[in-house]
Amino acid sequence: MTDSKSHTIDTATGKEAPAEISEERVLNIFTEIAEQYERFNRSSSFHQDHKWLDRLVELAPITSSSRILDVAGGTGEVTFAICRKAHPAHILLTDYTPAMLEVAKRRIAAGDARSVNVDTQVVDAQVVDAQKMPFEDNSFDVVTMAYGIRNMPDRMAALREIRRVLVPGGTACILEFSTPPRPVERAFYNLYLKWGIPAWGQHYTGKREDFVYLADSIKAFPAQEEFCDMLRAAGFGHVAYENLAFGAVAIHTAVK
Ligand SMILES: C[S@@+](CC[C@H](N)C(=O)[O-])C[C@H]1O[C@@H](n2cnc3c(N)ncnc32)[C@H](O)[C@@H]1O
Repeated sequence: MTDSKSHTIDTATGKEAPAEISEERVLNIFTEIAEQYERFNRSSSFHQDHKWLDRLVELAPITSSSRILDVAGGTGEVTFAICRKAHPAHILLTDYTPAMLEVAKRRIAAGDARSVNVDTQVVDAQVVDAQKMPFEDNSFDVVTMAYGIRNMPDRMAALREIRRVLVPGGTACILEFSTPPRPVERAFYNLYLKWGIPAWGQHYTGKREDFVYLADSIKAFPAQEEFCDMLRAAGFGHVAYENLAFGAVAIHTAVK
């Protein structure tokens, strides 16, 4: 059974712990790696990251009148994928780490947003903690989030906030690392997490320990079905998921 009550964990282990441990660490890590984040992502995913984000956008029911909230949007990868494939009315790109959003804003200003000329009338950026969002109820038609929820110590609070700010009938589309269901692929994946991710991180940033954390947080994150249960416990319906890369990544969709 999934505990629907809010409680905070250490996102590196999944064990109960004060929120500050994970929040300070996440702020430090993403401030340190903000400049190299995009190149790391490209290489460590074997250039699959854009395809996965494009699939996230395909699964999102975006129309020309959609107001979209991109949660934990970092350097803008999801927002830029949306701008490439769809033309919503507005996207609010949000993140907890100011340095990540600064990179996103610079990319927009430099025309370096996945070859998209981002319309600054359509995209805004704001520092926001997803666990406590400063938005009215029923404000957005679609919420997107990629690789964000894993880094949050109070995941149930974040999921409930996402549901609260969605309009009734609105959809949450959440991409996250997950668990390959087949044992052989799972074994290779675990080896990659143990050795590959820290090695890529060392190569791009010189901060091997930050990437040991990223790998640990991936291993500690609930598998597909358990995350479905968390979404249901947060009040969502029509919960479904699609595996990518043998289930190493999954996109969950859920409707308010
Ligand atoms: C791995 S990055 C993902 C960035 C982006 N979504 C992408 O796909 O490239 C994770 C992001 O989650 C953000 N994050 C962590 N905790 C958060 C929170 N409580 N609220 C909002 N963002 C958070 C971090 O600052 C970081 O930018």
